[in-house]
Amino acid sequence: MAHILDPAQLFSVAGTVAVVTGGGTGIGLMMAAALENNGATVYIVGRRLPVLEKAAKERSRYGRMFALQGDVTSRESLLGVVEVIRERHGYINLLVNNAGVAHGIMQKYEHQDIRSLQNELWNAASPRDFGMSFEANVTGVYYSTVAFLELLHNGNVRRAIAELHPVTSQVITVSSVAAFRRDDRPYSIPYTLSKVASTHMGKMFANILKDWKIRSNIIAPGIYPSEMTNGVIPDSHVARDVPLQRAGRLEDIAGLILFLASKAGGYVDGTVHITDGGRLSMFSSTY
Ligand SMILES: NC(=O)c1ccc[n+]([C@@H]2O[C@H](COP(=O)([O-])OP(=O)(O)OC[C@H]3O[C@@H](n4cnc5c(N)ncnc54)[C@H](OP(=O)(O)O)[C@@H]3O)[C@@H](O)[C@H]2O)c1
Repeated sequence: MAHILDPAQLFSVAGTVAVVTGGGTGIGLMMAAALENNGATVYIVGRRLPVLEKAAKERSRYGRMFALQGDVTSRESLLGVVEVIRERHGYINLLVNNAGVAHGIMQKYEHQDIRSLQNELWNAASPRDFGMSFEANVTGVYYSTVAFLELLHNGNVRRAIAELHPVTSQVITVSSVAAFRRDDRPYSIPYTLSKVASTHMGKMFANILKDWKIRSNIIAPGIYPSEMTNGVIPDSHVARDVPLQRAGRLEDIAGLILFLASKAGGYVDGTVHITDGGRLSMFSSTY
């Protein structure tokens, strides 16, 4: 009977210590809730403490979702977050780089003349939009990962000594299917380019961290309800552009994060996981 796998054990995240940046809202909160509700201790990090505290209060099952104010674009702020968790645990098993922003959103998709297109491209995204997008979605992912490296390593050390955790430490970066699109209806060019960079960074970290057995994977969502997308992506767009004709749900992202964070996903490293209801198949894609 030893070879029969118990799904409850295979997909268990009990005992995992995780950090989810941007975990107070949207996809980050869905992942934080999925992890905590299944036995993990989860620190949710964001700039608005009241939002985080409300989320932790409403979505905790075991009282192990904790709010920590932090800004991924500030190295000092990140080090402050790391210190709190170092004092409480001394290690983490999982960092989810989920915090992100979308700036420079294009509104008009059809242009009668080149000047109209030129105006849209010139004005829809300012140099500041590029800067803010890359600061949060790329630089923020980079420094968040680097800030937590020692605690991720400590998670592996602790695992090796006492066999206390079923899988090696892992960084998961939330990118976007936007990273693979090159069609003529961009959502936001700075956003898309920043997600291309964060996707590749996630792959690079799998290589950079290989000698420490810290894994790095990427989740690329399609359309999920969140502060970023509410009111921006109409239902008609979802019905037209998503083969499954619906936005992503809690169970969709929960299933993926529980797979990746558990023993079931323990051999997964350096890979991209798309969760988009088939949306990418509708576009000219680089994937
Ligand atoms: N929803 C979708 O359809 C979709 C699709 C593809 C990819 N994504 C990606 O999924 C991730 C989550 O986005 P979401 O859609 O769930 O949107 P969201 O609800 O706006 O969540 C973004 C979170 O990031 C936090 N955040 C932003 N800047 C931060 C900073 N400098 N430091 C710390 N936290 C910061 C925000 O909290 P504060 O403002 O309080 O800091 C917020 O909780 C993003 O990386 C996004 O690009 C979303």
